[in-house]
Amino acid sequence: MPDPTRVAGAGGPRHVVLVGLMGSGKTTVGKKVAKLTGHRFVDADVELEARTGRSVADWFATEGEAGFRRAEAELLASLLDEPEPLVIGAGGGVVIAPGNRALLAGGRALVVYLHGEPAFLASRAQAKPHRPLLAGADPHELFARLHAERDPWYREVADAVVEIRPHHEAGEKPKWRIAETVVDALAGLDRVGGPADDVTPEQRSAPVIELDVPLGDRTYPVLVGPGARHRLLEVLPVGVRRVAIVTQASIPVTVDPGVDHRVFTIGEGEDHKDLGTVEDLCRDWAQWGLTRGDCVVAVGGGVVTDTAGFAAAVYHRGVPVVHVATTLLGQVDAAIGGKTGVNLPEGKNLVGAFWQPAAVICDTEVLVTLAPREYRNGQGEMAKYAFLGVERLPDLPLEEAVAACVRLKAEVVAADEREGGRRAVLNYGHTLAHALEIAGRYDLRHGEAVAIGIVYAAELARLLGRIDGARVAEHRRVVAAYDLPVAVPEGIDADEVLTLFGRDKKAVRGITFVLDGPDGVEPVAVDDERVLREALDRVRA
Ligand SMILES: NC(=O)c1ccc[n+]([C@@H]2O[C@H](COP(=O)([O-])OP(=O)(O)OC[C@H]3O[C@@H](n4cnc5c(N)ncnc54)[C@H](O)[C@@H]3O)[C@@H](O)[C@H]2O)c1
Repeated sequence: MPDPTRVAGAGGPRHVVLVGLMGSGKTTVGKKVAKLTGHRFVDADVELEARTGRSVADWFATEGEAGFRRAEAELLASLLDEPEPLVIGAGGGVVIAPGNRALLAGGRALVVYLHGEPAFLASRAQAKPHRPLLAGADPHELFARLHAERDPWYREVADAVVEIRPHHEAGEKPKWRIAETVVDALAGLDRVGGPADDVTPEQRSAPVIELDVPLGDRTYPVLVGPGARHRLLEVLPVGVRRVAIVTQASIPVTVDPGVDHRVFTIGEGEDHKDLGTVEDLCRDWAQWGLTRGDCVVAVGGGVVTDTAGFAAAVYHRGVPVVHVATTLLGQVDAAIGGKTGVNLPEGKNLVGAFWQPAAVICDTEVLVTLAPREYRNGQGEMAKYAFLGVERLPDLPLEEAVAACVRLKAEVVAADEREGGRRAVLNYGHTLAHALEIAGRYDLRHGEAVAIGIVYAAELARLLGRIDGARVAEHRRVVAAYDLPVAVPEGIDADEVLTLFGRDKKAVRGITFVLDGPDGVEPVAVDDERVLREALDRVRA
């Protein structure tokens, strides 16, 4: 038997997480793995109930799946922060939330997937008909569906896959045999890829990818990757004595700037991205004594970085700001490029300034607590980069995908800092998206509207002879790969959409769309109403 401390303990706490469908043995095998390695076993569902006093069923009933997933994500993050190595039996659906997958793949755990074929799991479940999760469902249909949905995700996060069926068929004590196979697999992983003893916890969650937004003497670094927030001190401007951290109360991300600092919270949502919040911040900073030699650190999504960035731009005629982007949308878009601003009752982003940050940190680990819909919101913006030049984007690991989007946005910003021309390509998919958002009757987040807008732009480009059917299919494939909608909501009225196109801010002369074509994505004026309607018909469900 391998040395248990080498299995899970080399280089500090490295936990073992067992994932797999219900009935694959995560709890029973997990307890045995814990015995073999000398570590404590934690069943995530049981632990959640112990910590919150509410069972999984209660969570689903009262908070819905989104609420449960959020609680599950917070629990997972906190278990992985435990100082002693644990063996964790994860909930079957843990991999559904992209943030959880990022956390599991982030290097703090060795993940073992206990795999059983759906028919095998179903036949075992039939032998135990009292299992509450089956709740009258046909086990074969249920396991086939769950397996089809989750198997790719389990494999995505797994360091090792252990087949359970051969052990059950081999006869005696199958759970012990599986546990021993798991421990052997872990020992093998440790030999080939385990962390070195002298690596700090921060370094262990590397790689952090370092990029630049090249703007001459205002060039600034962007750090992307799990644990990047721990490097805040390194990117603060030299000589800073005080840091004003601006965030929102519900964002569970703390940063340590290593100097005197104070936290200032702002309200959530677009309503708080306004001049009132900017005034409050500036007054609070003035009362605290923040000077131009100090720094603002915005920790949040686009609402926080836009608002704090603008306040930093105008306070004392400009103090440095560092963005720690905590939403996917913020990381791939809002925090990069120096556009800051707030809303007026008359419209969004009507007051603002170009104010480049001193640095940006995109810590992919903090995305774990993001609500699934917020994550998808970011994926909508991410999808557009696949057509602006990032190759094989959906196939990249999260931190590489974020870095690729940042790199591309940095290039575009460097070429056209003040949106005089090329920067308009970043609005790919946004013309229809804005129309859908302004119409306001559809339950769509911005990124979901952009996803539909991307498919619309592709259909429009095909009708105008700029791209072929295969390229349109590629658009649909990429958008669908992110689990984003590819069709306009039901009941969409073409006349209304065309009227709203006319109000889009790019409608300077006729209606300007950003379209794909032989020379790549570029602004194109379209005045043929018939073609606009035809393209809309092609994105109906
Ligand atoms: N400046 C730019 O170039 C630019 C580009 C795109 C979008 N934007 C702006 O960005 C804003 C939208 O940003 P957003 O989508 O990030 O929304 P957001 O900032 O409102 O964040 C969404 C929600 O997620 C919460 N949240 C943030 N980080 C979290 C975390 N790690 N865990 C749990 N919850 C977390 C927030 O509190 C909020 O409730 C819009 O105002 C838009 O105009 C700006």
